[in-house]
Amino acid sequence: MRVDILTLFPEMFTGPMTESMLWKARDRHLLDLRLHQIRDYTVDKHRIVDDTPYGGGGGMIMKADVLLRAVEALLSDAPPETPVILTTPQGRLFSHEIAVSLAQRERFIIVCGRYEGIDDRLRELVITDEISIGDYVLTGGELPAMIMVDAVVRHIPGVLGAEGAAERDSHADGVLEGPHYTRPHALRGLTVPQILVEGHHAQIEAWRREQGLRRTWRNRPDLLLKAALSTDDRYLLAKFAEEDARARRDAADSAP
Ligand code: ADE
Repeated sequence: MRVDILTLFPEMFTGPMTESMLWKARDRHLLDLRLHQIRDYTVDKHRIVDDTPYGGGGGMIMKADVLLRAVEALLSDAPPETPVILTTPQGRLFSHEIAVSLAQRERFIIVCGRYEGIDDRLRELVITDEISIGDYVLTGGELPAMIMVDAVVRHIPGVLGAEGAAERDSHADGVLEGPHYTRPHALRGLTVPQILVEGHHAQIEAWRREQGLRRTWRNRPDLLLKAALSTDDRYLLAKFAEEDARARRDAADSAP
């Protein structure tokens, strides 16, 4: 897979892109990640990439002509329909589903937004998708671009050690992963759940599912609306609801 990133700050990518999994993916030629300095696509003496907004209002806007030249240069040898993604807090929310669908692409381009935004004509001319990583505003689209690439690359076959590991991730089926433990067996009076030590595979699987469902119920109940749930899962959720109701009744009974 080839990913082209257009940015004013290519050095920001050095650490994340040269460590750990992303480095492994690049080393194994599974990921061809190319960083491009937007400023290299200016044609004026001062290499200006931004300008004041028409109508006033403060802030600086990334210039359409420079970005257009940059994107079109990359598209000139790209397959038809190559996605051109703008990172922006106004985009659709990044998700597991978007990561999986991008992982199937041969190539995509990310434009890292900066300043107050980009000249809006770029949305009509070259941007095919706008993605936000969350409902908060960062100083630029570089960190979102790194997060997206990391989440996408995990789904390229051969990148993760254990085949299929990405399918077991939290979010893969809308239910979060349960707890994990390793040695030592006892730590400050807390021991590893006995069921994991005894090692009956089917019981362990059932226990993990229950713990994952419990975590989802507690931390992210919104996910359960679109999760793939079995009859057993639904039975467990009804049990959690009953436990919560009982706890609320007990709290109300003991209130003064
Ligand atoms: N640029 C600034 N904030 C952002 C966000 N939340 N997501 C994507 N790009 C951004």
